[in-house]
Amino acid sequence: MPEQHSALSTEATMTQQKMPLNQQQLRPNLTFYDLYPPTTDMLAEVSQSLSAASPSLHPKYFYDETGSALFDRITRTPEYYPTRTETELLTGYAEEIRARLGRPQAIAEPGAGSCEKVRLLLDAWQPHHYMPLEISRECLLDASQQLAGDFPGVHISAVCADYCQTMAMPQALAQSGQVVFFPGSTIGNFEPSARANFLKGLRKLAGPGGALLIGADLQKADTQLNAAYNDAEGFTAAFNLNALHHLNRELDCQFDTDNMRHVAFYNREQQRIEMHLECLSDQHIQLGERSLTLNSGTRIHTENSYKFTATSFSAELVAAGFTPLNCWTDPQNLFSLHLAQA
Ligand code: AVI
Repeated sequence: MPEQHSALSTEATMTQQKMPLNQQQLRPNLTFYDLYPPTTDMLAEVSQSLSAASPSLHPKYFYDETGSALFDRITRTPEYYPTRTETELLTGYAEEIRARLGRPQAIAEPGAGSCEKVRLLLDAWQPHHYMPLEISRECLLDASQQLAGDFPGVHISAVCADYCQTMAMPQALAQSGQVVFFPGSTIGNFEPSARANFLKGLRKLAGPGGALLIGADLQKADTQLNAAYNDAEGFTAAFNLNALHHLNRELDCQFDTDNMRHVAFYNREQQRIEMHLECLSDQHIQLGERSLTLNSGTRIHTENSYKFTATSFSAELVAAGFTPLNCWTDPQNLFSLHLAQA
């Protein structure tokens, strides 16, 4: 698998200008900052990863409009425990976390998406400031407008940026002492070395006196993990295959998706769920001017989702320079929520 993410840095020189959208359209408690995340050359990137000796696709290709809707369905399946367990932890411990942090006033959330989970914290903590960072301009604008309406007492600084790339915060946003919120065990989708760098980036984003509140999925029986990524209704399979529909639409790759199969299993040695797409017949695909054949039986590696123990994840936080403050888990030890001082 290629490294999936690179470090976030708040030290790089800021080159982009603060660019508010038409303020008329924005709620009074919302400011929109566009850092113009660079667009990637999809054809070059996909051609390279698919023609490698072990073909792979970056998991970001799951997330077009259909993929995001499918992910939302996955989170509501009986088998996919992470989302509901984390939500229970956040609901149950929001007050305790707030007290532990001494009434935090600012929250930053890289990759905020639909800004759903943070609502629990905004309700419980009533901070002055919330800063979602999100690459999808449309999604960010929609979610932050809604949030601004629902939480008129919170000032929202919405930042359109690729939080995985090196970037700088506009001067006005470079706050220290904020709580960086990174839920969902998205940290598990990073490869180990990229994860270490990314955690260091989160520490810089929190700034001196700041903290990190982060969700990490836990190791457990193979059967339960395998079920979570092979739900009976087939939403995870559809989500995985949707990456190919996405490529067919954007690049006209001509994948025969009826002859591709979703494969997901727990690799205990690597402590990760692996997702693949297996060719059930020879696949003759187009990558711009080039043709590429993926033989029947070939697997395209689409995602890793690493699983941790509470102790192993705390050790990663320490290695990134954090001081762990607490870790909350549910009675079945399915999921963990870590709080650490930056
Ligand atoms: C986004 N991420 C935390 C999910 C996970 O569990 O690794 C993505 C996912 N892939 C299949 N199901 C959910």
